[in-house]
Amino acid sequence: MSGKKADEGGTPTWYDAGLAHVWLPYAQMKTMRPPLPVARTQGCRIVLADGRELIDGIASWWTTCHGYNHPHIRASIERQLALMPHVMFGGLAHEQALTLARRLAALMPGDLTHVFFSDSGSVAVEVAMKMAVQFWLNQGVRTRKKFLAFTGGYHGDTTGAMAVCDPDAGMHALFHGLLPAHHVVDLPRDEDSTAAFARFLERHAEELAGIIVEPLAQGAGGMRFHDPLVLQHLRAAADRYELLLIFDEIFTGFGRTGSLFACEAAGVVPDIVTLSKALTGGTLPLAATIAGKKVFDAFWSDDPMHALMHGPTFMANALACAAANASLDLFEREPRLRQVANIASALERRLAPCRGLPGVKDVRVKGAIGVVELDRIDDLDGLRARFVQEGVFIRPFGTVIYLTPAFTIGTEELARLTGVVVKVVGDM
Ligand SMILES: Cc1ncc(COP(=O)(O)O)c(C=O)c1O
Repeated sequence: MSGKKADEGGTPTWYDAGLAHVWLPYAQMKTMRPPLPVARTQGCRIVLADGRELIDGIASWWTTCHGYNHPHIRASIERQLALMPHVMFGGLAHEQALTLARRLAALMPGDLTHVFFSDSGSVAVEVAMKMAVQFWLNQGVRTRKKFLAFTGGYHGDTTGAMAVCDPDAGMHALFHGLLPAHHVVDLPRDEDSTAAFARFLERHAEELAGIIVEPLAQGAGGMRFHDPLVLQHLRAAADRYELLLIFDEIFTGFGRTGSLFACEAAGVVPDIVTLSKALTGGTLPLAATIAGKKVFDAFWSDDPMHALMHGPTFMANALACAAANASLDLFEREPRLRQVANIASALERRLAPCRGLPGVKDVRVKGAIGVVELDRIDDLDGLRARFVQEGVFIRPFGTVIYLTPAFTIGTEELARLTGVVVKVVGDM
C-alpha cells in the first residue's frame, strides 16, 4: 500500500509523485486547482484520501445511476474476470456481448435492433455519423455528407463529434473554422425557431445525411430542456426530407429524464441511437450505436465496400458487457424509474427557494436533473471548492449549477445536496 494515512495530513505519496505526469480534462493545467485525491467510493459517497466524505451530486459525469460499488454489478464483473476479461470482437463472439445486444434491442422502440459496440460516447457518435454518411454512399449518393445539429448541443470531444457541438457552448470554440463544416440551428421550439428551421431545410436538406440531437435534455452544452413535441417535429421533418434522425441518448439514456429512454417519452423512433454513460452503471467504459432496419439494410449487400469499416480494439469488452448486463438486471429488479420520479419532485420542491434569489436566472428540473442557472459565475473553480467545503461534490460549468445524482440516493443525502445549493447560491 502506498499513500499516507488521512490522519498524517497532507496528500498521499502516489498523488505527489504522479500529479505532474497526468494531463487532466477540461483544465488549464497552469492555473487549475489541483484535483481531490480519492481513496474510494461507496453508494453516493466519494471518500477522499484525507478521510473526508463528499456526497456526489453528479454521479461521476452522469454514469453511476445505481450508486458506486453496487454489489450486483461487482459480482458480475468478478465472475466475468475469472472467465475472460476480454477477447477481440473481430471473428469472435461472446455471451455477454450478444446477450447485451439482444437485451438492448428489446428495450429500444421500433426496429432499432442492430447494436454496434464501442468504448466511449464520442466514438459512439462518430460511428453514428459514419453510418449515416455511408447509408447514403451505399446508395450511390455522395452529396449528403453534412449534419444538422442544434444550438446548445454537445456530442463529444473527438473531431467528428466536436463538429456537431454548439460551436460556442459546446466547448470547442477555439476550433472555429477548422472542423468539418456542418449546420447548427436553434431547436424548433417556438414559432420563430420553427419557421427558421423550415426555411433552413428548404434550402439545405439536399446536403444533409441526417439530424443529430440530444433528446429532451441538452447536457454539457448548458443543461437545457425541450418538449417532446420538438422531437416529434424533428421526426416529421426528417421523414419529409428523407433525413436520418440520430438521437444521442448518451446523457438521457437509462432513466435520467424520467423514462428509460427519452425517445420513449416523445413517442418517436429515431433511425440511430447512441448510448454510453450509465450503460454499465458507471463502472467500465462502453458505448453502443443502435441502428434501425432501414439503416442496417443499406449496408446489407454482396459488395464488401458496403460494409461498415469500423472496429475499436476494445469494442464489446467482456467485462464492460457483463457490467452492462448486470446494470440492466437492476433496472428490471429495482424501482429505478420510480426513484427518478421521486428525485424529480424533491428537486422541484427543494430547489424552488433559489427562484427569486439575486443572480438566479432560472430553476428547472427534468427527471433526475436539477438546474439552477445564474446570470453569471465569475469564479467557477472557487465555487467548486466552496461546494467541497460544504461536503458535496458538484461541478458547475458555464452559468449552471446542476445536480444529477445517482437514482439510489437517500432522501437525506439529496436534501443535503439541495440544501447546500440553496445556501451557496444565497451567499453569492
Ligand atoms: C450527449 C453526449 N454525447 C456524447 C458525449 C461524449 O461521451 P464521452 O465523454 O464518453 O466521449 C457526452 C459526454 O458528456 C454527452 O453528454
